[in-house]
Amino acid sequence: MSFNASVIAQDFPILSRKIRDGKRLVYLDSGATSQKPNVVIEAQSDFYRLHNAAAHRGAHQLAEEATDALEGARQTVASFINADLDEVVFTKSATEALNLVSYAMGNAQKGNRFHLSAGDGIVVTEMEHHANLIPWQQLAARTGASLSWFEVTPDGRLDLSNLASVITEKTKVVALTQQSNVLGTIIPLEEIVKRAHEVGAVVVLDACQSVPHMAVDVKALGIDFLAFSGHKTVGPTGIGIFWGRSELLAELPPFLTGGSMIENVTMTSATWAPAPRKFEAGVPNMAQAVGLGAALTYLTKIGMNQIHEHERALTEYLLNEFSTIDDLKVIGPQDMNMRGGIVSFSVGEIHPHDLGQYLDSQGIAVRTGHHCAWPLTRKLGVPATTRASFYLYNTKDDLDALVAGIRGAQKYFG
Ligand code: ALA
Repeated sequence: MSFNASVIAQDFPILSRKIRDGKRLVYLDSGATSQKPNVVIEAQSDFYRLHNAAAHRGAHQLAEEATDALEGARQTVASFINADLDEVVFTKSATEALNLVSYAMGNAQKGNRFHLSAGDGIVVTEMEHHANLIPWQQLAARTGASLSWFEVTPDGRLDLSNLASVITEKTKVVALTQQSNVLGTIIPLEEIVKRAHEVGAVVVLDACQSVPHMAVDVKALGIDFLAFSGHKTVGPTGIGIFWGRSELLAELPPFLTGGSMIENVTMTSATWAPAPRKFEAGVPNMAQAVGLGAALTYLTKIGMNQIHEHERALTEYLLNEFSTIDDLKVIGPQDMNMRGGIVSFSVGEIHPHDLGQYLDSQGIAVRTGHHCAWPLTRKLGVPATTRASFYLYNTKDDLDALVAGIRGAQKYFG
């Protein structure tokens, strides 16, 4: 099937909505959340309509069907990121997945490889969105470990010039994003993973902005843990994925405790089921998992490489168009080899919130603000940016509308 974004857009009912007095919706905020195709909406409602029961509990046909649906979705996720089945954990969000791994490390007792104490180090980057920063700040505070980070260069790359002095013999965890949600920067992981493993640290990858947009193979990346969210991957809200290498999941203590995650329980103690169940306390979010399975199947049929190429072409086109607008400054790398389909920018003295509001009045949805990555915008010396983020359903027409909208705003605000 050849890639045609206009045809793909027809799979997404919300994209045919008219907004703001009959204007065509130009949705350029997929970095915050993606829209959903019919197959996902239907898979989720079919689960409730036909198969709803508590998976892994009950001896009846519906419970069997719910279990098959949940485990089928797990298989789809595993294939999508080239993981083993028992390495895929359903969470409610990527944020929960990152809290899971950081809290679980905080629960590790002396003797467990994940036990942290004063003298140990956690490394992050200045590019992290809050979901992959605050859980590590909190883990450092709880354990006495130190928190250090890779800085960001003025052109929006990660400064790796001091790799060996940031990741040291003391480092136990390196947690970083694969693609910046503000700048679109794609991080060169290879040398970071190599250095982390040299010193015996584990690498936790925040893949919220990469898994939806490019082929991600956890084995090829050589990382240890990964998190991504369903809702940015054309899937439902309320579902995230936590992935970890089997041997590490076997050692990692649980985060949430309760039903389903146990092997044996007495009045005073409990033992844990093997992963992934050890990390899935309570009745799972089955309908959302099924919706995510449908989403990943849909993306796979279209082809992740084609989606990536499409977004790359759109980004190149937009950067080119932006270079013709007076006073427009792109915040982030211009080199197409180190960026994905997220473009942050400022336009003269127009405040991003005013620009966002003006664009909205034209039917164009962008995000403005610090994008849940406050330390990064602060470092770049901007209080806020305007951000356009694309996906498989966006077309050059959408970008032309954005460019026209920005020119209109320049006239409007004088
Ligand atoms: N991290 C999300 C975004 O970039 C919330 O919008």
